[in-house]
Amino acid sequence: YVIGVDLGTSAVKVLLMNQEGKVCHKVSKVYPLIQEKSGYSEQDPKEWVEKTTAALKELVDQFDADKANIEGISFSGQMHGLVLLDKENSVLRNAMLWNDTRTTEQCQQIYDVVGEERLLQITKNLALEGFTLPKLLWLKKYEPEVLEKAAVFMLPKDYLRYAMTGQIDSEYSDAAGTLMLNVGEKKWSKELCELLGIDSKLCPPLVASHECVGTITEHFAKLTGLASTTKVFAGGADNACGAIGSGILSEGKTLCSIGTSGVVLSYEERNDRDFSGKVHYFNHGEEKAFYTMGVTLAAGYSLSWFKDTFAKEEAFEKLLEGLEDVPVGANGLLFTPYLVGERTPYADATIRASFIGMQASHKRIDFARAVIEGITFSLNESIEIFRESGKKIDTIISIGGGAKNDTWLQIQADVFNATIIKLSSEQGPAVGAAMLAAYGCQWYKSLQQCAKVFTTEAKTFSPILKNVEKYQEIFRLYKDVYVQTKKLN
Ligand code: XUL
Repeated sequence: YVIGVDLGTSAVKVLLMNQEGKVCHKVSKVYPLIQEKSGYSEQDPKEWVEKTTAALKELVDQFDADKANIEGISFSGQMHGLVLLDKENSVLRNAMLWNDTRTTEQCQQIYDVVGEERLLQITKNLALEGFTLPKLLWLKKYEPEVLEKAAVFMLPKDYLRYAMTGQIDSEYSDAAGTLMLNVGEKKWSKELCELLGIDSKLCPPLVASHECVGTITEHFAKLTGLASTTKVFAGGADNACGAIGSGILSEGKTLCSIGTSGVVLSYEERNDRDFSGKVHYFNHGEEKAFYTMGVTLAAGYSLSWFKDTFAKEEAFEKLLEGLEDVPVGANGLLFTPYLVGERTPYADATIRASFIGMQASHKRIDFARAVIEGITFSLNESIEIFRESGKKIDTIISIGGGAKNDTWLQIQADVFNATIIKLSSEQGPAVGAAMLAAYGCQWYKSLQQCAKVFTTEAKTFSPILKNVEKYQEIFRLYKDVYVQTKKLN
């Protein structure tokens, strides 16, 4: 057996999988966001460790086969979050997360000091508020006493792995999202650190995602019931693991993953394609490969915001009851999902969301459909960028919360004008993490081979021409909304 741990933004999921690629057991534990001010989004790393420990203990307790048969464990994690440790490896402050947007000033500073062209040459990405480097610069300005005490910075799942092994490492797929890695050369950029006055000694050592970094400590073994011989593999960024878990392991494969944020990502063999920062360009969890990715910041989050604000007591299933009966276009209601700003294609942290076209006869379900369509339009903007670059996208694998509802999957097929494939397992990134452990344990010769066993297609949704045409019309209007509303704030 292997375990995949997905350290998400709202919860940690742990998944036990066997050699046939079957999910034998899963446990999930939630934790809150700490949002002290508008734009701030933090979590306590110690809480990640506590909740993961509890989840693993529950998983091991409830699973009656021989514990010693759990050979390996690996991780998937929310990207970009900044965890700082002091010389004693104690956490210095709450982690600042990927959806924390307080660092607009620091992004500008990066452009002023480094220049956009050089930044793109080194990191292949633009300076965005959510990334790690701007967070370090924010601390340098506003909490210098904290940064002075720092001995190393870590990404969320790397901290969790450290807590289990005592071993400090990062790996390429997550390091790519810091804006401090030379993505093409797979090295920390001393040049960027020097230019911006960040001590490069803060950067942790780098390993490959499937590399074994050690075994779990005796202490952690006691806490969870896992054997102390359990091998620990580095793991990857949640999007890289989502890609692995969905078999996005060769050129031409594309993934749509809707969680709190939503992403569309596409496999890249080459390290030198030029998207001029319009989409992210990160290292894959598969060694030597890359992926390009567009992000909608508030994807699933828009729907949970809608539920929490207007239907708090109801289950999602109830909220979405009758979704399929609302016509394409939500009876003239249009939603833009910019609740916390938007990444692709605007890289604009200040834009805000809108409902447009409300009429007295609209019901709650029209709003729900508009929210879902708006999220999907936003992801379509990323697909448009891929297509404009010459990528052929006719089939997309869809995972995450957005793949749980068949009507939403049909909406994806119609908005993206592509065949949508739903997989039989919903646990994308955690499966990817388990696959890294399985590959690391040498159960398979390659991740591709592992994917053949670990991923199965469950259902296909084909685009319906008349819906595609209607959505293309609405999509044109959708894109105008950004231009017309960006000055509202
Ligand atoms: C990707 C990003 C998000 C987080 C969510 O750039 O910020 O998808 O990884 O966990």
